[in-house]
Amino acid sequence: MSQNSLFRKKKINTIIQQGGDGEEHTGLHKVLTVRDLTFFGIAAIIGGGTFSAIGNACFSGGPGVVILYIICAIACGFTAMCYAEFASRVPVSGSAYTYAYVSFGELFAWIIGWALIMEYSIGNIYVAFSWSGYFTNLLESFHIHLPEWLTINYQSAHDAIIDGKGDEGIAAWNNAPMLGSLRIIFDLPAVLINVLITYLVYRGTKESRNFSNAMVMIKLLIVLLVIAVGIFYVDIDNWTPFMPNGFGGVMGGVSAVFFAYIGFDAVSTLAEESQNPQRDLPRGMIWSLVICTILYIVLALILTGMVSYTQLGVSDPLAEIFALKGVKWMLFIVSIAAVVAMTSVMLVFQLGQPRIWMTMSRDGLMPKKFSGIHPKYKTPGFATIVTGIVVGLPIFFTDENFVLDFTSIGTLFAFVLVCGGVLILSPQSQEELAERATRGKFRIPYVNSKFIFPALVVLSAGIIQYFFPDYFSGIVDFSGDATNHISMVIFFILCIVMSVLAFLKNLSLIPLLGLISCCYLLTGMALSNWKWFGVWLVIGLVFYFCYGKKNSKLNV
Ligand code: ALA
Repeated sequence: MSQNSLFRKKKINTIIQQGGDGEEHTGLHKVLTVRDLTFFGIAAIIGGGTFSAIGNACFSGGPGVVILYIICAIACGFTAMCYAEFASRVPVSGSAYTYAYVSFGELFAWIIGWALIMEYSIGNIYVAFSWSGYFTNLLESFHIHLPEWLTINYQSAHDAIIDGKGDEGIAAWNNAPMLGSLRIIFDLPAVLINVLITYLVYRGTKESRNFSNAMVMIKLLIVLLVIAVGIFYVDIDNWTPFMPNGFGGVMGGVSAVFFAYIGFDAVSTLAEESQNPQRDLPRGMIWSLVICTILYIVLALILTGMVSYTQLGVSDPLAEIFALKGVKWMLFIVSIAAVVAMTSVMLVFQLGQPRIWMTMSRDGLMPKKFSGIHPKYKTPGFATIVTGIVVGLPIFFTDENFVLDFTSIGTLFAFVLVCGGVLILSPQSQEELAERATRGKFRIPYVNSKFIFPALVVLSAGIIQYFFPDYFSGIVDFSGDATNHISMVIFFILCIVMSVLAFLKNLSLIPLLGLISCCYLLTGMALSNWKWFGVWLVIGLVFYFCYGKKNSKLNV
């Protein structure tokens, strides 16, 4: 392949021989064990999705939202195995970006790196907003009241005044001080937590790791306490009707539920700081996902069992259920847990983003400064500060729902490419496989999808047709809001194409199921999400063609 091609690839062996993308000598500390990595995964996973977004997901889907948690867990589980396969072959930091570089080539690697900004930085904006909500609750319990114009974002206050709904937003709008004709309304706690996290990450991984491990222990214990106390208030009558708004209502919560799972992949950005990345990264990722999946399913059942789903459409549902049941002491504990949980999520993502940029910068796709390592703290200092700015600035002019959807669509897109990447990775020789086995490195089990995948597609179609006879004819009815229909039609075409490819090329089943399940989740995204995602991609491509392509280290 020509060295100037958009699809020029980095070689795995070259990266490893260089000793971790050629930068090990820059001195990132190699301190993390499998336990730390699992904790890191949990630190990234349980956060805003669990404490805030779950409320609207339950409101939209009712108790049936449990099905969506299972679907997302399956999609993330397959994807985690693909990440693990890559992490075992490419033990350097950079996450899906590096993986795409070795399988799809430079252009796709850039696109993934660009999409990951949505996961790592934009996702943190949502978490900062949710953090602020619970933190404000906590202050209230100490009788400290911040004015509304300092606890809500401008967009939400504006929407409240237009819709005439939302007391806090209306109060913020009416009481805000003016600067000329502009109302000063912003979420102060969200801004402050971002500054604090940026500072911690700037100071160093080891300090951040200790902080994060302690927070994970606290939040796991408190989530377990919520389950243990909540179970006594479950009334199984609340579980019927199971899907009050049909399956469409359940899928309406897809951004929120998927968001709750995001984070296991952040573990892969710590490859260069792990003691034995090829063995430990996969284990850390899969363990954290398994633990969180179990907790989520139980938590969703408790939540929808304690009160009617109609009461859960709030931004602090875990506090709300105990408020409704009059369990005041749990209210306080849950608020503390939420603040702790979300702090650790922010910490992990803000730790991951600069490391992805650092790798992209080493490859020449980002300016050199992004790979500069702080001489004293041994962290990518410049990239860390830019991350703080990228998270901090939008806090002033976006709102929660927008960033939630945007994060989920970008992350799902990256996951699809990771699964696709594993499908086209070149097979390893017998010697390489034997070496992996003896050194305990993870390997994705190969199951030939030749007959299994087409059979699964036909079986699923048959089941749908049997139980919902009008489903397929309804899909091709494009009158009304056609977005979901168009994406479902594209999805079914993809299933047929992948069945043919599976048959002809004996594709590996697990990555194939990962790819298809993530694509299925993408069908739940609204048209506006796709539009914004398209705009984001175009901006990224302009950047690549104006800067990255010319400065790439693969240029000869
Ligand atoms: N899964 C993370 C959260 O819910 C992003 O906050």
